[in-house]
Amino acid sequence: MTQAPGEPKKLYIKTYGCQMNVYDSERMAEAMGAEGYVLTETVEEADLVLLNTCHIREKAAEKVYSDLGRLRPFKEAKPDLKIGVAGCVAQAEGAEILARMPLVDLVVGSQNYHRLPAMVKAAEAGEQPVDTEFPAEDKFDLLPERPVQARPTAFLTVQEGCDKFCAFCVVPYTRGAEISRPVARILSEAERLVAKGVREITLLGQNVNGYHGEGQGGAWGLGRLVRALARIDGLVRIRYTTSHPNDMADDLIEAHGAEPKLMPYLHLPVQSGSDRVLKAMNRKHTAEDYLRLIERIRAARPDIMLSSDFIAGFPGESDADHQASLDLIRSVGFGAAFSFKYSPRPGTPAANREGVPSEVADARLQELQALITSQQRAAQESMVGRSVGVLFEKPGRMAGQWGGKSDYLHAVHVSAEGIGPGTLARVRITAAGPNSLAGVLA
Ligand code: SAH
Ligand code: SF4
Ligand code: F3S
Repeated sequence: MTQAPGEPKKLYIKTYGCQMNVYDSERMAEAMGAEGYVLTETVEEADLVLLNTCHIREKAAEKVYSDLGRLRPFKEAKPDLKIGVAGCVAQAEGAEILARMPLVDLVVGSQNYHRLPAMVKAAEAGEQPVDTEFPAEDKFDLLPERPVQARPTAFLTVQEGCDKFCAFCVVPYTRGAEISRPVARILSEAERLVAKGVREITLLGQNVNGYHGEGQGGAWGLGRLVRALARIDGLVRIRYTTSHPNDMADDLIEAHGAEPKLMPYLHLPVQSGSDRVLKAMNRKHTAEDYLRLIERIRAARPDIMLSSDFIAGFPGESDADHQASLDLIRSVGFGAAFSFKYSPRPGTPAANREGVPSEVADARLQELQALITSQQRAAQESMVGRSVGVLFEKPGRMAGQWGGKSDYLHAVHVSAEGIGPGTLARVRITAAGPNSLAGVLA
Protein backbone atom coordinates (compact mmCIF):
# COMPACT_ATOMS: atom_id res chain seq x y z
CA MET A 1 0.00 0.00 0.00
CA THR A 2 1.44 3.38 -0.92
CA GLN A 3 1.06 6.24 1.44
CA ALA A 4 -1.47 8.92 0.54
CA PRO A 5 0.01 12.42 0.58
CA GLY A 6 -0.45 14.07 3.95
CA GLU A 7 -1.16 10.80 5.73
CA PRO A 8 0.89 10.47 8.93
CA LYS A 9 3.68 7.93 9.02
CA LYS A 10 3.03 4.89 11.16
CA LEU A 11 5.11 3.31 13.88
CA TYR A 12 4.82 -0.25 15.11
CA ILE A 13 6.60 -1.07 18.38
CA LYS A 14 7.08 -4.48 19.90
CA THR A 15 8.22 -4.52 23.52
CA TYR A 16 10.10 -7.38 25.17
CA GLY A 17 11.35 -7.67 28.75
CA CYS A 18 10.61 -5.66 31.83
CA GLN A 19 8.36 -2.72 32.71
CA MET A 20 11.20 -0.28 32.11
CA ASN A 21 11.07 -1.28 28.48
CA VAL A 22 7.30 -0.71 28.49
CA TYR A 23 7.96 2.80 29.78
CA ASP A 24 10.76 3.36 27.25
CA SER A 25 8.53 2.20 24.39
CA GLU A 26 5.94 4.79 25.38
CA ARG A 27 8.58 7.50 25.49
CA MET A 28 9.93 6.42 22.08
CA ALA A 29 6.42 6.56 20.66
CA GLU A 30 6.10 10.06 22.11
CA ALA A 31 9.46 11.12 20.62
CA MET A 32 8.39 9.87 17.19
CA GLY A 33 4.90 11.32 17.77
CA ALA A 34 6.52 14.75 17.92
CA GLU A 35 7.84 13.97 14.41
CA GLY A 36 4.33 13.21 13.16
CA TYR A 37 4.33 9.41 13.57
CA VAL A 38 1.21 7.68 14.87
CA LEU A 39 1.14 4.20 16.39
CA THR A 40 -0.22 1.24 14.48
CA GLU A 41 -1.08 -2.24 15.71
CA THR A 42 0.03 -3.97 12.52
CA VAL A 43 3.40 -4.38 10.82
CA GLU A 44 1.67 -4.21 7.39
CA GLU A 45 0.75 -0.58 7.93
CA ALA A 46 4.04 0.49 9.47
CA ASP A 47 6.65 2.82 7.98
CA LEU A 48 8.89 2.24 10.99
CA VAL A 49 9.12 -0.93 13.08
CA LEU A 50 10.94 -0.77 16.40
CA LEU A 51 11.80 -3.83 18.45
CA ASN A 52 12.47 -2.76 22.03
CA THR A 53 14.46 -5.74 23.16
CA CYS A 54 15.51 -7.66 26.29
CA HIS A 55 18.85 -9.37 26.90
CA ILE A 56 18.18 -10.90 30.30
CA ARG A 57 18.03 -14.53 29.19
CA GLU A 58 19.23 -16.20 26.00
CA LYS A 59 15.69 -17.06 24.89
CA ALA A 60 14.57 -13.43 25.10
CA ALA A 61 17.57 -12.26 23.08
CA GLU A 62 17.26 -14.97 20.43
CA LYS A 63 13.56 -14.22 19.97
CA VAL A 64 14.58 -10.83 18.60
CA TYR A 65 16.53 -12.46 15.78
CA SER A 66 13.69 -14.77 14.83
CA ASP A 67 11.29 -11.82 14.87
CA LEU A 68 13.69 -9.83 12.68
CA GLY A 69 13.75 -12.76 10.23
CA ARG A 70 9.98 -12.60 10.13
CA LEU A 71 10.11 -8.95 9.11
CA ARG A 72 12.03 -9.76 5.90
CA PRO A 73 8.96 -10.25 3.63
CA PHE A 74 7.48 -6.96 4.88
CA LYS A 75 10.66 -5.14 3.96
CA GLU A 76 10.73 -6.83 0.56
CA ALA A 77 7.13 -5.76 -0.07
CA LYS A 78 7.82 -2.21 1.11
CA PRO A 79 11.48 -1.24 0.67
CA ASP A 80 10.93 2.12 2.41
CA LEU A 81 10.05 0.35 5.65
CA LYS A 82 12.65 1.17 8.31
CA ILE A 83 13.48 -1.35 11.02
CA GLY A 84 15.10 -0.32 14.28
CA VAL A 85 16.41 -2.39 17.18
CA ALA A 86 16.24 -0.62 20.55
CA GLY A 87 16.67 -1.66 24.18
CA CYS A 88 19.02 -4.05 25.91
CA VAL A 89 20.01 -6.33 22.99
CA ALA A 90 20.82 -3.17 21.03
CA GLN A 91 22.91 -1.96 23.96
CA ALA A 92 24.71 -5.27 24.38
CA GLU A 93 25.31 -6.20 20.75
CA GLY A 94 25.36 -2.86 18.91
CA ALA A 95 26.72 -3.10 15.37
CA GLU A 96 26.85 -6.93 15.57
CA ILE A 97 23.11 -6.82 14.98
CA LEU A 98 23.66 -5.18 11.59
CA ALA A 99 26.25 -7.80 10.67
CA ARG A 100 23.86 -10.62 11.57
CA MET A 101 20.70 -8.96 10.21
CA PRO A 102 21.50 -6.51 7.40
CA LEU A 103 17.81 -5.65 7.03
CA VAL A 104 18.09 -3.61 10.24
CA ASP A 105 18.32 0.14 9.57
CA LEU A 106 19.24 1.46 12.99
CA VAL A 107 20.37 0.30 16.43
CA VAL A 108 19.63 2.50 19.42
CA GLY A 109 20.61 1.72 23.03
CA SER A 110 18.43 2.25 26.10
CA GLN A 111 20.11 5.55 27.04
CA ASN A 112 20.08 7.16 23.60
CA TYR A 113 16.56 7.05 22.32
CA HIS A 114 16.11 10.81 22.59
CA ARG A 115 18.25 10.73 19.43
CA LEU A 116 15.85 8.37 17.68
CA PRO A 117 14.21 11.01 15.44
CA ALA A 118 17.61 12.07 14.05
CA MET A 119 18.60 8.42 13.61
CA VAL A 120 15.42 7.67 11.66
CA LYS A 121 16.20 10.60 9.36
CA ALA A 122 19.73 9.26 8.86
CA ALA A 123 18.28 5.84 8.06
CA GLU A 124 15.94 7.42 5.53
CA ALA A 125 19.00 9.00 3.92
CA GLY A 126 20.48 5.53 3.49
CA GLU A 127 22.72 5.30 6.56
CA GLN A 128 22.65 2.55 9.18
CA PRO A 129 23.18 4.51 12.41
CA VAL A 130 24.24 2.72 15.60
CA ASP A 131 24.21 4.58 18.92
CA THR A 132 24.89 2.63 22.08
CA GLU A 133 27.09 5.03 23.99
CA PHE A 134 26.18 6.08 27.48
CA PRO A 135 25.69 9.79 26.79
CA ALA A 136 26.60 12.60 29.19
CA GLU A 137 23.19 14.23 28.76
CA ASP A 138 20.00 12.89 30.35
CA LYS A 139 17.62 11.61 27.70
CA PHE A 140 14.64 12.48 29.87
CA ASP A 141 15.60 16.18 29.70
CA LEU A 142 15.56 16.05 25.93
CA LEU A 143 12.45 14.00 25.25
CA PRO A 144 9.16 15.73 24.50
CA GLU A 145 6.70 16.13 27.40
CA ARG A 146 4.33 13.25 27.79
CA PRO A 147 1.05 13.78 25.92
CA VAL A 148 -2.50 12.95 27.08
CA GLN A 149 -2.84 9.54 28.63
CA ALA A 150 -6.21 7.91 28.57
CA ARG A 151 -5.34 5.27 31.16
CA PRO A 152 -5.74 5.40 34.94
CA THR A 153 -2.36 3.75 35.60
CA ALA A 154 1.11 4.75 34.45
CA PHE A 155 4.76 3.81 34.86
CA LEU A 156 7.33 6.40 35.78
CA THR A 157 11.03 5.60 35.62
CA VAL A 158 12.83 7.19 38.59
CA GLN A 159 16.08 5.26 38.60
CA GLU A 160 18.00 3.39 35.93
CA GLY A 161 20.95 1.09 35.78
CA CYS A 162 22.50 -1.10 38.43
CA ASP A 163 25.79 -1.24 40.35
CA LYS A 164 25.10 -4.56 42.07
CA PHE A 165 26.72 -6.89 39.54
CA CYS A 166 24.95 -10.10 40.47
CA ALA A 167 27.08 -12.78 38.85
CA PHE A 168 24.33 -13.92 36.45
CA CYS A 169 22.93 -10.60 35.30
CA VAL A 170 23.44 -8.43 32.20
CA VAL A 171 21.61 -5.37 33.50
CA PRO A 172 24.71 -3.51 34.83
CA TYR A 173 26.17 -3.85 31.33
CA THR A 174 23.06 -3.11 29.27
CA ARG A 175 21.68 -0.30 31.42
CA GLY A 176 24.90 1.07 32.85
CA ALA A 177 25.62 2.57 36.26
CA GLU A 178 22.87 3.48 38.70
CA ILE A 179 21.44 6.93 38.05
CA SER A 180 18.52 8.53 39.92
CA ARG A 181 16.42 11.24 38.29
CA PRO A 182 16.11 14.47 40.30
CA VAL A 183 13.10 14.76 42.64
CA ALA A 184 11.68 17.89 41.00
CA ARG A 185 11.55 16.23 37.56
CA ILE A 186 9.76 13.19 38.94
CA LEU A 187 7.23 15.28 40.86
CA SER A 188 6.43 17.39 37.82
CA GLU A 189 6.11 14.34 35.55
CA ALA A 190 3.80 12.75 38.13
CA GLU A 191 1.73 15.94 38.39
CA ARG A 192 1.34 16.06 34.63
CA LEU A 193 0.24 12.44 34.53
CA VAL A 194 -2.29 12.99 37.31
CA ALA A 195 -3.63 16.14 35.63
CA LYS A 196 -4.32 13.95 32.62
CA GLY A 197 -6.29 11.38 34.55
CA VAL A 198 -3.68 8.96 35.90
CA ARG A 199 -4.60 7.73 39.40
CA GLU A 200 -1.95 5.10 40.05
CA ILE A 201 1.77 5.48 39.40
CA THR A 202 4.30 2.67 39.52
CA LEU A 203 7.79 4.00 40.09
CA LEU A 204 10.30 2.03 38.07
CA GLY A 205 13.97 1.22 38.39
CA GLN A 206 16.18 -1.87 38.12
CA ASN A 207 17.03 -1.12 41.70
CA VAL A 208 14.30 1.34 42.53
CA ASN A 209 14.64 1.20 46.32
CA GLY A 210 18.24 2.34 45.89
CA TYR A 211 16.82 5.62 44.59
CA HIS A 212 18.87 8.61 45.77
CA GLY A 213 17.77 11.55 43.63
CA GLU A 214 18.77 15.14 44.18
CA GLY A 215 16.03 16.97 46.10
CA GLN A 216 15.63 19.82 48.52
CA GLY A 217 18.38 19.61 51.13
CA GLY A 218 20.37 16.84 49.41
CA ALA A 219 19.73 13.32 48.15
CA TRP A 220 16.31 11.82 48.85
CA GLY A 221 15.63 8.15 49.39
CA LEU A 222 12.63 6.36 47.93
CA GLY A 223 10.60 6.62 51.17
CA ARG A 224 10.81 10.40 51.07
CA LEU A 225 9.97 10.48 47.37
CA VAL A 226 6.92 8.29 47.99
CA ARG A 227 5.70 10.60 50.74
CA ALA A 228 6.11 13.65 48.50
CA LEU A 229 4.23 11.94 45.66
CA ALA A 230 1.46 10.94 48.08
CA ARG A 231 0.72 14.64 48.60
CA ILE A 232 -0.41 15.00 44.97
CA ASP A 233 -4.20 15.31 45.02
CA GLY A 234 -5.87 12.91 42.63
CA LEU A 235 -3.04 10.38 42.82
CA VAL A 236 -4.58 7.54 44.80
CA ARG A 237 -2.05 4.74 44.53
CA ILE A 238 1.71 4.41 44.47
CA ARG A 239 3.70 1.27 43.73
CA TYR A 240 7.36 0.67 42.97
CA THR A 241 9.40 -2.09 41.38
CA THR A 242 12.02 -3.73 41.41
CA SER A 243 13.83 -3.74 44.71
CA HIS A 244 17.01 -5.27 46.10
CA PRO A 245 16.89 -6.61 49.69
CA ASN A 246 20.04 -4.70 50.66
CA ASP A 247 18.50 -1.33 49.77
CA MET A 248 15.31 -1.64 51.82
CA ALA A 249 15.86 1.46 54.02
CA ASP A 250 14.04 1.87 57.36
CA ASP A 251 12.39 4.98 56.05
CA LEU A 252 10.86 3.07 53.13
CA ILE A 253 9.69 0.26 55.41
CA GLU A 254 8.08 2.87 57.66
CA ALA A 255 6.35 4.44 54.66
CA HIS A 256 4.62 1.08 54.08
CA GLY A 257 3.04 1.41 57.50
CA ALA A 258 2.34 5.13 57.44
CA GLU A 259 1.38 6.03 53.88
CA PRO A 260 -2.04 4.69 52.84
CA LYS A 261 -1.44 5.50 49.17
CA LEU A 262 1.56 3.17 49.10
CA MET A 263 0.06 -0.16 48.09
CA PRO A 264 0.59 -3.29 50.22
CA TYR A 265 2.50 -5.24 47.58
CA LEU A 266 6.25 -5.61 47.33
CA HIS A 267 8.35 -7.41 44.72
CA LEU A 268 11.59 -8.25 46.46
CA PRO A 269 13.71 -10.73 44.49
CA VAL A 270 15.89 -13.07 46.55
CA GLN A 271 17.03 -15.49 43.76
CA SER A 272 17.92 -18.38 46.06
CA GLY A 273 17.41 -19.64 49.60
CA SER A 274 20.95 -21.04 49.89
CA ASP A 275 23.70 -18.91 51.43
CA ARG A 276 26.32 -20.72 49.36
CA VAL A 277 24.49 -19.88 46.13
CA LEU A 278 23.68 -16.34 47.26
CA LYS A 279 27.39 -15.82 47.85
CA ALA A 280 28.30 -17.25 44.44
CA MET A 281 25.68 -14.95 42.92
CA ASN A 282 27.30 -11.93 44.62
CA ARG A 283 24.02 -11.03 46.28
CA LYS A 284 25.74 -9.84 49.48
CA HIS A 285 22.99 -11.06 51.81
CA THR A 286 22.03 -14.37 53.38
CA ALA A 287 18.71 -16.19 53.41
CA GLU A 288 18.40 -15.29 57.10
CA ASP A 289 18.95 -11.58 56.30
CA TYR A 290 16.09 -11.81 53.83
CA LEU A 291 13.76 -13.53 56.29
CA ARG A 292 14.53 -10.94 59.01
CA LEU A 293 13.87 -8.17 56.50
CA ILE A 294 10.50 -9.69 55.61
CA GLU A 295 9.65 -9.78 59.33
CA ARG A 296 10.40 -6.07 59.63
CA ILE A 297 8.35 -5.23 56.56
CA ARG A 298 5.44 -7.30 57.87
CA ALA A 299 5.69 -5.62 61.24
CA ALA A 300 5.19 -2.27 59.47
CA ARG A 301 2.43 -3.50 57.17
CA PRO A 302 1.05 -6.87 58.32
CA ASP A 303 -1.17 -7.48 55.27
CA ILE A 304 1.57 -6.83 52.69
CA MET A 305 1.63 -9.24 49.74
CA LEU A 306 5.16 -10.29 48.84
CA SER A 307 6.57 -11.51 45.59
CA SER A 308 10.03 -12.57 44.48
CA ASP A 309 12.25 -13.99 41.73
CA PHE A 310 14.12 -17.30 41.86
CA ILE A 311 16.76 -18.81 39.60
CA ALA A 312 16.88 -22.59 39.18
CA GLY A 313 20.15 -24.31 38.30
CA PHE A 314 22.67 -21.55 38.99
CA PRO A 315 26.21 -22.95 38.46
CA GLY A 316 27.24 -25.02 41.47
CA GLU A 317 23.69 -25.32 42.86
CA SER A 318 23.34 -28.65 44.67
CA ASP A 319 20.17 -30.51 45.58
CA ALA A 320 20.51 -29.19 49.12
CA ASP A 321 20.78 -25.62 47.80
CA HIS A 322 17.64 -26.15 45.79
CA GLN A 323 15.87 -27.51 48.86
CA ALA A 324 16.93 -24.35 50.71
CA SER A 325 15.12 -22.28 48.06
CA LEU A 326 11.98 -24.37 48.54
CA ASP A 327 12.32 -23.95 52.32
CA LEU A 328 12.64 -20.19 52.00
CA ILE A 329 9.52 -20.06 49.82
CA ARG A 330 7.66 -22.15 52.41
CA SER A 331 8.71 -19.93 55.27
CA VAL A 332 7.82 -16.65 53.57
CA GLY A 333 4.56 -17.59 51.87
CA PHE A 334 4.57 -15.46 48.72
CA GLY A 335 1.52 -13.93 47.10
CA ALA A 336 3.22 -14.39 43.74
CA ALA A 337 6.69 -15.24 42.49
CA PHE A 338 8.61 -15.82 39.29
CA SER A 339 11.18 -18.51 38.69
CA PHE A 340 13.62 -18.78 35.81
CA LYS A 341 16.00 -21.42 34.56
CA TYR A 342 19.53 -20.09 34.79
CA SER A 343 20.73 -18.83 31.42
CA PRO A 344 24.45 -18.08 31.00
CA ARG A 345 24.87 -14.57 29.63
CA PRO A 346 27.91 -13.37 27.70
CA GLY A 347 30.20 -11.09 29.69
CA THR A 348 28.80 -11.99 33.13
CA PRO A 349 31.06 -13.60 35.77
CA ALA A 350 28.92 -16.75 36.08
CA ALA A 351 28.96 -17.44 32.33
CA ASN A 352 32.28 -19.28 32.51
CA ARG A 353 31.35 -21.47 35.47
CA GLU A 354 30.40 -25.06 35.03
CA GLY A 355 26.63 -25.34 34.81
CA VAL A 356 24.11 -27.70 36.33
CA PRO A 357 22.84 -30.30 33.79
CA SER A 358 19.92 -28.87 31.86
CA GLU A 359 17.48 -31.64 32.88
CA VAL A 360 18.33 -31.11 36.54
CA ALA A 361 17.72 -27.37 36.23
CA ASP A 362 14.42 -28.10 34.43
CA ALA A 363 13.25 -30.43 37.19
CA ARG A 364 14.15 -27.87 39.87
CA LEU A 365 12.35 -25.14 37.96
CA GLN A 366 9.22 -27.30 37.85
CA GLU A 367 9.40 -27.87 41.57
CA LEU A 368 9.83 -24.17 42.30
CA GLN A 369 6.94 -23.34 40.02
CA ALA A 370 4.62 -25.92 41.54
CA LEU A 371 5.24 -24.60 45.04
CA ILE A 372 4.89 -20.98 43.93
CA THR A 373 1.65 -21.75 42.10
CA SER A 374 0.17 -23.39 45.19
CA GLN A 375 1.09 -20.34 47.29
CA GLN A 376 -0.34 -18.02 44.67
CA ARG A 377 -3.64 -19.96 44.71
CA ALA A 378 -3.75 -19.91 48.50
CA ALA A 379 -3.18 -16.15 48.49
CA GLN A 380 -6.01 -15.65 45.98
CA GLU A 381 -8.36 -17.86 47.94
CA SER A 382 -7.52 -16.02 51.15
CA MET A 383 -9.09 -12.93 49.56
CA VAL A 384 -12.55 -14.50 49.34
CA GLY A 385 -14.87 -12.81 51.84
CA ARG A 386 -12.52 -9.84 52.27
CA SER A 387 -13.17 -6.28 51.22
CA VAL A 388 -10.36 -4.75 49.16
CA GLY A 389 -9.74 -1.57 47.21
CA VAL A 390 -9.96 -1.99 43.42
CA LEU A 391 -8.90 0.55 40.81
CA PHE A 392 -10.89 -0.19 37.68
CA GLU A 393 -9.10 0.08 34.35
CA LYS A 394 -11.13 -1.38 31.52
CA PRO A 395 -14.33 -3.23 30.60
CA GLY A 396 -14.22 -7.00 31.16
CA ARG A 397 -15.10 -9.67 28.62
CA MET A 398 -18.73 -9.88 29.66
CA ALA A 399 -21.22 -7.07 29.10
CA GLY A 400 -21.47 -4.74 32.09
CA GLN A 401 -18.32 -6.17 33.63
CA TRP A 402 -15.29 -4.10 34.67
CA GLY A 403 -11.75 -5.24 35.39
CA GLY A 404 -9.11 -3.69 37.60
CA LYS A 405 -6.40 -4.45 40.13
CA SER A 406 -6.83 -4.87 43.86
CA ASP A 407 -4.51 -3.17 46.35
CA TYR A 408 -2.64 -6.50 46.40
CA LEU A 409 -2.29 -6.48 42.60
CA HIS A 410 -4.82 -9.25 41.97
CA ALA A 411 -6.93 -8.91 38.83
CA VAL A 412 -10.55 -8.38 39.93
CA HIS A 413 -13.76 -8.44 37.89
CA VAL A 414 -17.01 -6.83 38.99
CA SER A 415 -20.36 -6.45 37.21
CA ALA A 416 -22.04 -3.25 38.39
CA GLU A 417 -23.38 0.07 37.24
CA GLY A 418 -21.49 3.29 37.67
CA ILE A 419 -17.94 1.95 37.21
CA GLY A 420 -15.60 3.60 34.73
CA PRO A 421 -11.88 3.73 34.04
CA GLY A 422 -10.21 5.21 37.12
CA THR A 423 -13.03 4.35 39.57
CA LEU A 424 -11.56 3.35 42.91
CA ALA A 425 -14.04 1.30 44.93
CA ARG A 426 -14.24 -1.13 47.82
CA VAL A 427 -15.06 -4.60 46.57
CA ARG A 428 -16.06 -7.68 48.53
CA ILE A 429 -14.37 -10.66 46.92
CA THR A 430 -16.83 -13.49 46.31
CA ALA A 431 -14.81 -16.03 44.32
CA ALA A 432 -11.25 -16.85 43.29
CA GLY A 433 -10.61 -18.18 39.78
CA PRO A 434 -7.24 -19.32 38.39
CA ASN A 435 -6.33 -15.90 36.96
CA SER A 436 -8.61 -13.42 38.62
CA LEU A 437 -10.97 -12.72 41.49
CA ALA A 438 -14.66 -11.91 41.22
CA GLY A 439 -16.45 -9.55 43.57
CA VAL A 440 -19.30 -7.16 44.26
CA LEU A 441 -19.18 -3.50 45.23
CA ALA A 442 -18.98 -3.39 49.02
N1 SAH B 1 16.52 -5.50 38.62
C1 SAH B 1 15.74 -6.52 39.07
C2 SAH B 1 15.40 -7.59 38.08
C3 SAH B 1 16.42 -8.02 37.16
S1 SAH B 1 15.93 -9.13 35.94
C4 SAH B 1 16.31 -7.08 40.33
O1 SAH B 1 17.45 -6.90 40.64
O2 SAH B 1 15.59 -7.72 41.01
C5 SAH B 1 14.57 -10.01 36.55
C6 SAH B 1 14.89 -11.36 37.03
O3 SAH B 1 15.42 -12.16 35.99
C7 SAH B 1 15.91 -11.43 38.12
O4 SAH B 1 15.39 -11.13 39.37
C8 SAH B 1 16.39 -12.87 38.02
O5 SAH B 1 15.60 -13.73 38.80
C9 SAH B 1 16.17 -13.20 36.55
N2 SAH B 1 17.44 -13.31 35.82
C10 SAH B 1 18.34 -12.34 35.62
N3 SAH B 1 19.41 -12.83 34.95
C11 SAH B 1 19.15 -14.15 34.72
C12 SAH B 1 19.86 -15.20 34.07
N4 SAH B 1 21.06 -15.01 33.54
N5 SAH B 1 19.28 -16.41 34.02
C13 SAH B 1 18.07 -16.62 34.57
N6 SAH B 1 17.36 -15.68 35.19
C14 SAH B 1 17.89 -14.44 35.28
FE1 SF4 C 1 20.69 -7.63 37.90
FE2 SF4 C 1 21.38 -7.97 40.43
FE3 SF4 C 1 21.24 -5.52 39.42
FE4 SF4 C 1 19.02 -6.90 39.80
S1 SF4 C 1 20.44 -6.23 41.40
S2 SF4 C 1 19.54 -5.74 37.99
S3 SF4 C 1 19.65 -8.98 39.37
S4 SF4 C 1 22.68 -7.11 38.83
FE1 F3S D 1 15.45 -7.12 29.90
FE2 F3S D 1 16.77 -4.91 29.80
FE3 F3S D 1 14.65 -5.11 31.34
S1 F3S D 1 17.64 -6.91 29.79
S2 F3S D 1 14.65 -7.24 31.91
S3 F3S D 1 14.67 -5.23 29.16
S4 F3S D 1 16.49 -3.99 31.79
